[in-house]
Amino acid sequence: MDHFDYRDRTLFCEDVPVPELAAKYGTPLYVYSEAALVQKLTEVQTAFAEAKPIICYSVKANGNLSICRLMGKHGSGFDVTSQGEFQRALTAGPEDSKIVFAGVGKTDTEIEFALRNGVFLFDVESEQELHNIGKVANGLGVKANVALRVNPDLPPKTHVKTDTSVKGVKFGLDIETIVDVAMGVVGHAGLSVVGLHMHLGSPILKADPYRMGAEKGLALIKQFRAQGHDIKYLNMGGGFGINYRKDEAKPASAFADAIMPALRESGCQLILEPGRFIVGNSAILLSRVLYTKATGGKHYIIQDAAMNDLIRPTLYGSFHRIWPVNPAADVPVTPDVNGDPDDPQPFRDMPNCFKQDVVGPVCESGDYLAKDRPLPGAKRGDLLAAFSAGAYGMAMASNYNSRVRAAEVLVTGRTHRLIRRRESFADLVACEADCLT
Ligand SMILES: Cc1ncc(COP(=O)(O)O)c(C=O)c1O
Repeated sequence: MDHFDYRDRTLFCEDVPVPELAAKYGTPLYVYSEAALVQKLTEVQTAFAEAKPIICYSVKANGNLSICRLMGKHGSGFDVTSQGEFQRALTAGPEDSKIVFAGVGKTDTEIEFALRNGVFLFDVESEQELHNIGKVANGLGVKANVALRVNPDLPPKTHVKTDTSVKGVKFGLDIETIVDVAMGVVGHAGLSVVGLHMHLGSPILKADPYRMGAEKGLALIKQFRAQGHDIKYLNMGGGFGINYRKDEAKPASAFADAIMPALRESGCQLILEPGRFIVGNSAILLSRVLYTKATGGKHYIIQDAAMNDLIRPTLYGSFHRIWPVNPAADVPVTPDVNGDPDDPQPFRDMPNCFKQDVVGPVCESGDYLAKDRPLPGAKRGDLLAAFSAGAYGMAMASNYNSRVRAAEVLVTGRTHRLIRRRESFADLVACEADCLT
């Protein structure tokens, strides 16, 4: 991960030794690198520069206000999927931020809120929703700009819980019927169909699905235009994969090479909604070892981060590299593979390491960050880093087991500051305390 590296057997985030952060802010702690965040956004902006793209950072990946503010400051708009995310974008972004609103279940209240607050366009996911947006817009005496979201029926297999463009999922309009749906709103008083949207799934490690998606999009745009719709935008969504294991991810330029030919031909302006690509490798989840335990032939490292802090391993079977913040002299500074189950030799011997599960304090057998990982022996008080934790980490955190959610800190060069304080018991019961009779 750029901007996280080991110096003299201590993990640094930019120029800050990570143990300094644990001492000041406690654990579990999300640690973000500002340089990494800006670098990844810049990589997308640069790769697609020819298209003068509207980059809409996907707030669902990580909605922290300070991260959204940083994105806005560096020229990004926002992709949101609820009124709450919309309000985050409004609160943190510049006044003229472009906000695109996707999601299969927008309520009338959310639609009205978005229209009153300058939504750039709605990504529409069903025929009923399309007509409802038109109705709400009519009621307000305005016209809603919409992009029709197509399910392009492409197979970028990701995970059954994150596939969004294979037949039968709840997202988007079927590619077979979308043209008829568009026909039904030609000349609608409350709707301007100005774009085509797709989001192929996440994370996607190949560029080819984007080429196929853009080509299918181009064919649809031609048909919409023939119906009389003034299509100005092709929104290719997010989904660009990142390095969770080693260097399996593609650079943004590979996705640009795939999308640009069809985009050029369409004459559209490009919209992108990257989330994970920007924030995923910009953060670690830092934890402290509480205990170790051996039972039934298994070895456990029990540390203070749990599934409520990072649910991806148990929700998706996701792989996060985990390694000590201060590796001892007799173990590698960074693991080569670290037990990647997709590696042909997943459990290759690593010096002085043995298979261990990294688990948290939550009362579920599914509470783990890693299973059967070759890791060095740990002891009480050691610090561990779970890498690539910036996307869908804190965003999916919960208060399960009445655990307060972790603090978040942003590192900039040699400085650091809280961007979310650790929750307190008062926060935990804030919505209940007044109701107690
Ligand atoms: C419509 C839409 N756009 C963008 C994204 C962001 O995806 P990623 O974080 O993989 O870039 C998602 C993720 O679910 C999405 O549903």
